[in-house]
Amino acid sequence: MDMHTISNDHRRFAVAPMMELSDRHFRYLARLLSKHSLLYTEMLTSKAVLHGDREYLLGTDKADQPVVLQLGGSDPAEMAEAAAIGESWGYDEININVGCPSDRVQSGRFGACLMAEPETVAACVSAMQQAVSVPVSVKCRLGIDRDDSYEALEHFVRCVQGAGCEYFIVHARKAWLDGLSPKENRTIPPLRYPFVYRLKETLPDLHITINGGVESWQDVQTHLQHVDGVMSGRKAYYTPGFLGGADQSVFSDLDNAKPMIADAQGFADVARSYAQYAQTWVDQGIKASALTRHIVSLYQDIPGARRWRRHISENASRTTDVVQMVEDALEHVLPETGAKSA
Ligand SMILES: Cc1cc2nc3c(=O)[nH]c(=O)nc-3n(C[C@H](O)[C@H](O)[C@H](O)COP(=O)(O)O)c2cc1C
Repeated sequence: MDMHTISNDHRRFAVAPMMELSDRHFRYLARLLSKHSLLYTEMLTSKAVLHGDREYLLGTDKADQPVVLQLGGSDPAEMAEAAAIGESWGYDEININVGCPSDRVQSGRFGACLMAEPETVAACVSAMQQAVSVPVSVKCRLGIDRDDSYEALEHFVRCVQGAGCEYFIVHARKAWLDGLSPKENRTIPPLRYPFVYRLKETLPDLHITINGGVESWQDVQTHLQHVDGVMSGRKAYYTPGFLGGADQSVFSDLDNAKPMIADAQGFADVARSYAQYAQTWVDQGIKASALTRHIVSLYQDIPGARRWRRHISENASRTTDVVQMVEDALEHVLPETGAKSA
């Protein structure tokens, strides 16, 4: 895969790293829906990259560029080696996970617990930057546990900036490491956008992307008045049709803009292209459901959307003809429009 430079324009809107969701197949779908958004992998631990099945873990499609590889870890030498491997696989940026609160992650000393160790994160950034020529960025929280003042956030960011990091993505809530599940940590601590806005005001040379709770393109535009970029996770995944609005709403690219959510025909083109792609994987023995799970929610809030979802959920586990299955499912959302392709 050739290297692809990420422009600040691409950074205006990003789809978040999400374990078990933002795999290469979802990224393919996301790219069909938005030509310009910045995409992220799921988090991979540095150890997995060093010792695991690289084709399985790092394999990605040229079509999904620009794409950022997210790594979890805290050993600078290991993170540097994993970053170099990531760059050689064609990733356009390497991101360090300083936001994930799960127990497993804490026990390996990475993720959100590193908010308390800015020097460790800074050492990782330095080592990684020496090992790669692509940018190294950090995705963090506002803070952890009781260490949740604005000053603590600024201290963390300044320290990591000191090692040369220019790109920060801030999930605008803190993490409670003790007592909340990862899922609760994405809902219970309140969103505090003003902390992130203030960070940008105080450190205007940094590129700051805000994340957390984005529900609409209006939200995105509001944030963009204060910070450089916006990242969406759950909205982008569970309502993939939302992404269809990105090129028009954020990138002002009307030629490539996909129709907004209510346009059944526009999404039918996306569904058919995705089905062709999925078929190539199913022909190699991958289960259809591993691919079609990402398009189950493509249609929402239009007549037939429920039947579309049911058709795919019920048939994906037994079919090997994804193209036909998707065509049949489209009958539920396109019946009277006569919009079926030849
Ligand atoms: C299922 C799931 C898995 C996630 N995995 C990761 C991950 O691997 N790395 C990471 O930095 N954040 C991860 N997150 C957090 C998201 O990247 C994002 O910060 C969070 O969901 C808040 O954004 P949202 O409100 O737009 O969803 C995950 C979130 C979800 C829902």
